[in-house]
Amino acid sequence: DWTSTAFVETTVAELKEQLGDDHVIMALSGGVDSTVAAVLLHHAIGKNLHCIFVDHGLLRKNEYEQVLDSYKNMGLNIKGIHAKDLFYGKLAGFSEPEQKRKIIGGAFIDVFDEAAKEVQKELPAGLEVKWLGQGTIYPDIIESISVKGPSATIKSHHNVGGLPDFMKLKVVEPLKTLFKDEVRRVGKTLGVDPNILGRHPFPGPGLGIRILGDITEEKVRILQEADDIYIRNLKESGWYDKVWQAGTIFLPVQSVGVMGDERTYEHVVALRAVGSLDGMTADWIHLPYDLLAKISNEIINHVKGINRVVYDISSKPPATIEWE
Ligand code: XMP
Repeated sequence: DWTSTAFVETTVAELKEQLGDDHVIMALSGGVDSTVAAVLLHHAIGKNLHCIFVDHGLLRKNEYEQVLDSYKNMGLNIKGIHAKDLFYGKLAGFSEPEQKRKIIGGAFIDVFDEAAKEVQKELPAGLEVKWLGQGTIYPDIIESISVKGPSATIKSHHNVGGLPDFMKLKVVEPLKTLFKDEVRRVGKTLGVDPNILGRHPFPGPGLGIRILGDITEEKVRILQEADDIYIRNLKESGWYDKVWQAGTIFLPVQSVGVMGDERTYEHVVALRAVGSLDGMTADWIHLPYDLLAKISNEIINHVKGINRVVYDISSKPPATIEWE
């Protein structure tokens, strides 16, 4: 039966065989899947793996710096890229979820293509980047296929479905037969930082699909602050590791409140925490009332622009984990 040690051994050997002296380029997200895939590739081909980490301005608070540091500590050959203004510019005025996903996916490919060209330029003459590494796992593939029925696409996962023709890179996806828990076991075998392995899944489009409606820098800031308080409290209370995925959603409504003698008319955030095995189905988590009360107070008292916090008590199906 399946063991992570055997998987690592065979996969590294297969990757060596498949890739030889070829160079591989790969975009990392800071999540479990792309990190474990990169470490596997790194074991197989070392410095011939060129990693890129893009700050699209839709990451969580301080995430860019923290993730980049941990990648450097792992010895990965990684380059950070600031592209926040490009993403905000392209997204301005767009509210429809699939449109936002397409814009984010498109901008991502532009940034990535640019970075790939630079990596290429730095290689000795005659050498070529031939492969694109991806952290695709098995559920990504089935979700993408199963939703392409007669009822059309439910959500487009931008990390599945290949690349625009101009990129002419072959794709290498060492984790595409694995489920999330297996990926975590492989990561543990490879000695990946437990902080990265224990991270909740986070969608590629990031906070871009957790801000319902159009995206502005101010909304991103408010959501980052609120989410930081939520996640920190989950960690401090021991709930983070008992939850499969948690996040904060910025709602496209304002609500009336009072502060001192003043009437306020400000934003609302929803907190989401779900239990799941693979993201295909999910149940909402019954967080303790006193923990929810503490989080709500902290958010409302510390995050300027929010005067109301609600908790999402919907399961998937018929709801989804994300709101967009
Ligand atoms: P849903 O909302 O469909 O989410 O129940 C299932 C899992 O997929 C993640 N998700 C995405 N991941 N690009 C991604 O890379 C996306 O566009 C996307 N949409 C949802 C979601 O966070 C959850 O883990």
